[in-house]
Parts: sequence; C-alpha cells; structure tokens
Amino acid sequence: MKEIISIKNLNKSYGVDSVKAVNNLNLSINEGEFFGFLGPNGAGKTTTIRMITGIIESDDGSVEISGLKHSEKSEIHKFIGVVPESRGFYDWMTGEEYLSFFANLYWISGNIEERVLGLLKETDLFKNKNKRIGAYSRGMKQRLGLARALINNPKLLILDEPTLGLDPQGQENIKNLLKDLNSKGVTIFYSSHILSEVEDLCTKVAIINQGELVAQGTVRELKDHTKAKSLTDVFLKLTSSNNND
Ligand SMILES: Nc1ncnc2c1ncn2[C@@H]1O[C@H](COP(=O)(O)OP(=O)(O)OP(=O)(O)O)[C@@H](O)[C@H]1O
Ligand SMILES: [Mg+2]
Repeated sequence: MKEIISIKNLNKSYGVDSVKAVNNLNLSINEGEFFGFLGPNGAGKTTTIRMITGIIESDDGSVEISGLKHSEKSEIHKFIGVVPESRGFYDWMTGEEYLSFFANLYWISGNIEERVLGLLKETDLFKNKNKRIGAYSRGMKQRLGLARALINNPKLLILDEPTLGLDPQGQENIKNLLKDLNSKGVTIFYSSHILSEVEDLCTKVAIINQGELVAQGTVRELKDHTKAKSLTDVFLKLTSSNNND
C-alpha cells in the first residue's frame, strides 16, 4: 500500500496561553482509504486538517502528501481537493460563475463548461446554477463547497464536516457521492460527528482527544478493543474525561 498522507510528531499551540491544540500527532493514510478523523469539539481536528492542507504552519513535526512537503504547494494543489470547515463564498456570484471561476484558476484541462455543468448536476445544484450564492440555503452552499473541491478531479479529498447542517436527503446524497468517488480510487480523509455515517463509509478511523491520538484502526478493531457495541460507544469510552479504563 502506498502512503498518501504522512504526519509525524505534529504539534500546534495557539495564542498567549498556548492552548495545545495538536499534541505530537502521528498518522499514516494509504492510497484508496476512506479515513475517518473523529474527536469531540475542540479536539484538534480542524487544526490538523489546516496543517495537512497547508493553511497554517505547525510548530514542529512534518506533513507529507504523496512524499511532497508544503514547500511544493503547487504540485500538491494539482491533485488535492479540500472542503474546509469555514467556507468563503463570493455571495454576488451565481453557483455556475463560482465554479467556472475556480475551474479557470486551477487550469483544469478539457472543456471547463462541461466540467462545471457536470459537477452542478452531481451535487444537485443544476436547477440553482443561475441563482446568486447569497441566496443559497446552507445545504446548497455545502454542496457548492464540495463541487468546488472536486473541480480538479482530485485523487485526495480532505473534508471537514461536509454534511454539517444538511437534511437527511442531502446527507445521503453526499454520502453516496463520496462512496462513489472512493470506489473509483479517490482517497478520502474525512472529519464528521455523524458516527453512523462514519461507520458506514470509513475503512479506517482515528480518534483524537485534546490534541492526542487515542485510537486508530478499522471500526471493527476499535469495537473489539474497547468491547463496545457501536462506534458511538467506542467514541464515548475513549473520549470521556473521567474514563478510567
Ligand atoms: N484560531 C485559533 N486561535 C486560538 N485557538 C484556537 C484557534 N483555532 C482553534 N483553537 C483552539 O484549538 C483547539 C482545537 O480546535 P479545533 O478547531 O482544531 O477543534 P475541532 O476538533 O475541529 O473541533 P470541532 O469539532 O468543534 O470543529 C481548541 O481548544 C480551540 O479553542
Ligand atoms: Mg472543527
């Protein structure tokens, strides 16, 4: 198996009171995996994702994507797609204009208009392609963020709670879209609080708590290891602060 994300001894503290958001984290993700990245609010998931995608720098430690460091950003950007936690949109653009803008920015090959219309269909936004983003609902914006992340046909997709705030139908659609991408070989690194979704999708999961890795493996392995019936049970056992196991 070829490694696609390699995280070694990663650390990050914030601010004057030095909140340790990520504490000596080591993770290895292989090509083709659907990797779930879990942890309670404030555990350090978004901070880790921002270091993986190069938005912020670590205090120390290293991140490599397909053997490339962030100094080789332009190479990494060719094959990575990201749905960040906070998404910046240009409210005055229509959905179609927004995707065309990013398609041009990425210099994608082939027919840009075809690619954009295809993505609008895939993410169920085709009907609303001429509506201004400012008038999109939360779920529509969420799907537009995913369409944008897919614009360059990424082989690695990193998503920070992509189904947050979506209705059940919207969650199911995104789930199916991600499943389909993964079956076509796209590696997915995925943070979510919807554990039923994670259980359904992920080939492997890592759980972090207060910036530290507390467990990693397949859902089955984690259940066996903690003698838990569900992933929710596993999660609660491993992340409760008064856990005496
Ligand atoms: N920009 C920032 N400045 C200062 N502290 C921050 C900043 N971003 C995050 N933190 C702190 O770092 C810790 C980890 O936050 P992070 O956003 O990475 O958690 P998370 O696991 O993504 O949580 P959630 O599930 O709520 O999204 C928290 O204590 C948080 O308050
Ligand atoms: Mg977060």
